[in-house]
Parts: sequence; structure tokens; C-alpha cells
Amino acid sequence: MAAPSSPIDSEQALHTLDRELARGLEMVAAASTLADVEQAEAAILGRRSPFSEVQRALGDLSEESRRRVGQRTNEVRNQLREALSGRRTALEAEREASLLEADRIDVTLPGRRPRSGSLHPLTIVQYEIVDIFMRMGYRVVEGPEVEDEWHNFDALNIPPDHPARTLMDTIYLDVPGRPELLLRTHTSPMQIRTMEAGQPPVYVVVPGRVFRNEEVTAKNMPVFHQVEGLAVDEGITLADLKGTLETFLRALLGQDRRIRLIPSFFPFVEPGAQAEVSCFVCDGAGCKTCAGVGWLESGGAGMVHPAVLEAVGYDPERYTGFAFGMGYDRLAMIRFGIPDIRLLWESDMRFLEQFEGSAVTV
Ligand code: PHE
Repeated sequence: MAAPSSPIDSEQALHTLDRELARGLEMVAAASTLADVEQAEAAILGRRSPFSEVQRALGDLSEESRRRVGQRTNEVRNQLREALSGRRTALEAEREASLLEADRIDVTLPGRRPRSGSLHPLTIVQYEIVDIFMRMGYRVVEGPEVEDEWHNFDALNIPPDHPARTLMDTIYLDVPGRPELLLRTHTSPMQIRTMEAGQPPVYVVVPGRVFRNEEVTAKNMPVFHQVEGLAVDEGITLADLKGTLETFLRALLGQDRRIRLIPSFFPFVEPGAQAEVSCFVCDGAGCKTCAGVGWLESGGAGMVHPAVLEAVGYDPERYTGFAFGMGYDRLAMIRFGIPDIRLLWESDMRFLEQFEGSAVTV
């Protein structure tokens, strides 16, 4: 760019520089955004600024004036640049801080945590039971709650008109065209489904809900829980059943427990038995829990009836097996001191939260 045509006065030039310095510092101090800083820079040091004009006119000054004004020009430029860059840095830091602030997540403890849930007492007991059988090599399976008469009765050697059908207080479903549908009255139909699905060896346990048309009382519900066990293989004997029940009940209720098998009848086992375990509250001495007899009923058991093996196409000459079925609602009640079975169904938080953190062995 060509130098201005009119020569300038050095005093005037120095005055302009001082004025521009003051103006510049003021603009920089007032800049509240990075764009403001850019603008200030252009206005003070830009090509068309009074500062640049002075710079361009230096050549027209006498040598001595040029040195004086030139030196002052450098000082003013440096001071202004310093101010500009200082402000820029400060604003950048501010912007960074506000971005961080906007992104901030409050991780201060304890915070508002969602309540953690806990296992239902029945689930705790169920896990303990299946865990013991898993350690003995059993598979855990579950079956349908809506069953048909074949699996719930016929295949289990309970023919139509057999008194066991009425004794079980069966709840039939009202599905048009499907008169055979019912709510399973026990977990035993899963014996049939398991055997229908494959060949021996079979070692399964089946926990689940079962249904019977009974009054609701403190001790009884029309819905309760059983765990079925089934072992079918070559050479299985009653001794295996007794040993398995003993191992299981000791693992669950304490190594001092004794068991006994009282002869009993179920159409799908022969011989059949009622399994009992020495009371784990009084260790057999007799207490309120075992009604003074020292023994607790733990469930039905027996050797799988040959007619059941035949119903699923197994060769009863080659295979034998045992089965058992145990309710565990009562067990949970005794274990946790629950006085009324209805508490297990009411989902009352005051009841349920008492099991928070209960030990589970799985
Ligand atoms: N299913 C029988 C019941 O509910 C119990 C049982 C299972 C008995 C297996 C013998 C063998 O009463």
C-alpha cells in the first residue's frame, strides 16, 4: 500500500499511539466472547486502523522521529497483542469450563439409588433345593402349569374314575373343545414329559407351581410349590432312593438329620412311601413345629411303576427308577418362621424386605 501523501507530525503520531493503546486495552477488557476479541484486534491493529496508519507513515518521518515513533509503535503493538492473547486464553478457558459444566454428571454419593430387590423366600428355598441336586448331577427342568389329563393322570397310571383324580381336587379349565386341559395338580406330569423327550439315563428335578381346588387358610393355598425328582437308569434300587433323599435332606436341613420311609400309596410308584425327616427345629425331641412327633413329612416317593415306564415306551425289564415329589412352601415357612402361608402371596413390602440379603447358595 502506498504511504499517505501528507507527512505526519511525530507528536501527533505518538498521541495517536497512546490513544489507540488506551482504546485497545479498553476494548479487549470489554470483550466477552472470542468473536469480540477478533473484532477488537481488527479494529485496533487491522489494516485500516489508526495504528496501521501511523506505522505506514513512519517512512515519512525524519530519522530521529522515526526511531522514536517506531519504538513506541513496537511497544504499543506488543502490549496490545499481549492483552489480546491474554483475553483470548481466558475466554477459551471459560468456554471449556462451561462445556464441561454442561456435560457434568453428578456422581456424588450416596445419590438416589433405585431400591435393590431381593429374592422371595420361596425362591431362596427353591434355589437351595435345585442347587443340591445339580451338585449330584441332576438336570433342572420346568414344565407347563396347564396340563392335559394324559400327562397329569393317565400316563401316571391314574386311569379315569380312579379315586386319585377326585382326591386331587383338580381344577379343570373351561376351554371349548379341550375338556382334557387342567391346572397340574402335581409336578409328576413332568416325569412323563421328560421320559417322552428322550432315553435313559434320566436324572432331573422339576420345581414349580401346582394347583388344587382347596380353601384358603393360614396353612393351605390352592396354589403351592413342589419339586419333583426322577432318576431312571439300569439297576436303580430303593437303596438309591433312600440314599439320595438322605443326602439331599441332610444338605438342605443339616448333617444330623435322619430320614425314614413310611409305606404309602401313589398309583405311579411301587412300592410307594411317605418320606419323613427328623425335625430340624427340635432334632427329633418333639416340638410345636413337628406336633410333638419329632418327624416332618417331606413328600411322596417310590420306585417308578412299570406301567409308567411302559406308557412312555421304556423297557421295564431293562430300566428301573425312582421318583419323589416334595412341597416346599411349608419348608420355607418353618425355615423363615413365617406364621401364615398367605404372606407368601401378598407381596407386602414390609414382609418381603425382611429377606433382603438372605444367603443363597447358588
Ligand atoms: N405327585 C405326588 C403328590 O403330589 C408326590 C409323589 C411324587 C409321590 C413322586 C411319589 C413319587 O402327592
